[in-house]
Amino acid sequence: MMIKPEIVAAEAQQIGAILAHVQRAGFRIRNLALKSLSRAAVEEFYAVHRERPFFPELVDYIASGPVVAIHLERDQAVVKLRELVGATNPRDAACGTLRDLYGSSLSQNAVHASDSPENALREIGIVFGEGRGSGRAS
Ligand code: CMP
Repeated sequence: MMIKPEIVAAEAQQIGAILAHVQRAGFRIRNLALKSLSRAAVEEFYAVHRERPFFPELVDYIASGPVVAIHLERDQAVVKLRELVGATNPRDAACGTLRDLYGSSLSQNAVHASDSPENALREIGIVFGEGRGSGRAS
């Protein structure tokens, strides 16, 4: 999971609130760090979206300031976290989900959640510096 730049930069100090939701939902934090990702790291992180029209804007945005990178663990982690996070666009996110509560737009949608266990390992490898898509967890 990644908490996006607008939350980290905001005066409202919502990082702790988001972490509380996640921990109450039974996730254990394996690793957590405030990270300023390079454009190259963000391009690799979001490589699946490389051909999409919003890709340049997405890369600019995620590289614009620090994010909180979090390696989480629990049973059915990907499915359970995506339930907690809600739909990509906060306008469509179910009531009480993180994007409903903390998101403000499609790009400033508060958090990113991995969409498969394989991508989770790949993303953890990128943000925690285990090398290019090596798939090694922290
Ligand atoms: P995230 O879950 O981080 O994965 C890719 C991100 O691209 C997504 O959340 C959105 O914040 C952002 N994005 C911007 N425009 C779009 C779009 N049209 N469709 C999907 N995602 C978009």
